[in-house]
Amino acid sequence: MAVLKKGPWPKFYFTKNGKGGIRRKTYLSAVGDVPPTNLFEYKDVGHTDEAKKEVLKVFDGQSPFATPKPERLIKRVLEIATDEGDLVLDSFLGSGTTAAVAHKMGRRWIGIEMGDHAKTHCAVRMKKVVDGEQGGISKAVKWQGGGGFRYYELGEAILNEDGSLTGDIPFDVMAAHVWFSETKTPWSECKIENVKCKIEGTKSTVLGIHEGTAYVLLYNGILKDRSVNGGNVLTRKTLEVIQADLSARGDGSRGRSPSQDARPPEYEKIVVYGEACRLMAPTLEALKIEFRQTPYDLVTRR
Ligand SMILES: C[S@@+](CC[C@H](N)C(=O)[O-])C[C@H]1O[C@@H](n2cnc3c(N)ncnc32)[C@H](O)[C@@H]1O
Repeated sequence: MAVLKKGPWPKFYFTKNGKGGIRRKTYLSAVGDVPPTNLFEYKDVGHTDEAKKEVLKVFDGQSPFATPKPERLIKRVLEIATDEGDLVLDSFLGSGTTAAVAHKMGRRWIGIEMGDHAKTHCAVRMKKVVDGEQGGISKAVKWQGGGGFRYYELGEAILNEDGSLTGDIPFDVMAAHVWFSETKTPWSECKIENVKCKIEGTKSTVLGIHEGTAYVLLYNGILKDRSVNGGNVLTRKTLEVIQADLSARGDGSRGRSPSQDARPPEYEKIVVYGEACRLMAPTLEALKIEFRQTPYDLVTRR
């Protein structure tokens, strides 16, 4: 009240007791609408200058973009909106502050970034966080390092909106897609690199074995000109190649007798993806093969 009685309030003022820069005052009456219901003071949540310094420190003097947020600000937001163990999504990751703070605060997180700095900065920053980086909020939350993360790059889209293939998709791309849509695990984890296919110069038709099912892909002429449509159709001939590829893996099949090998068989059925199937239903049933058509059955699994 004493200040109010002194007369009209100033529109501008000088900082540092009149010796600093000029600042404009904004009054509630000039703002209108709904006044803010909470206030984050910069002494509590930091400011852009602090954020820039944090980012420059973590990236050894470089910054991927101009307007990072201070870790303290994101910490306040996560304290309000989340509990430990919650999943935090930042689909515009930028310099990775949200993921870094979420990790240090014991939240799980997903970060999405389309720029190259996803790899050159965000992943590098998160590696440092895991290793116990001590900038930002680390001291406040007693961060000592720990945990981990996976870094993925999106592959090409293989299906159009109408379910048709987007183009001539390479075998490995299709294989990764089929494997993931079936097993919900990345294909790269399947150690098939050293598996040699029986036919010289071709890859194995067997993508791998997951929880008792062998996954096979007949696609993009993998079998060259040995069979119908370059090997994209399940026939007696392509079946022979699949069986040879399964044996070449040497990791157990239903065809092996117990006396040959005491190990339990590693798969009980075979899922084959191909353009078409020329085998009759009783044959498929006897061989415990489930046929799925590419791309139709991929669309229905999205
Ligand atoms: C303003 S920055 C992110 C700020 C960050 N979340 C923070 O709080 O500091 C926006 C980022 O989103 C990325 N971006 C823009 N559009 C995107 C999209 N469609 N998918 C993924 N990232 C995108 C940009 O490359 C940029 O790095």
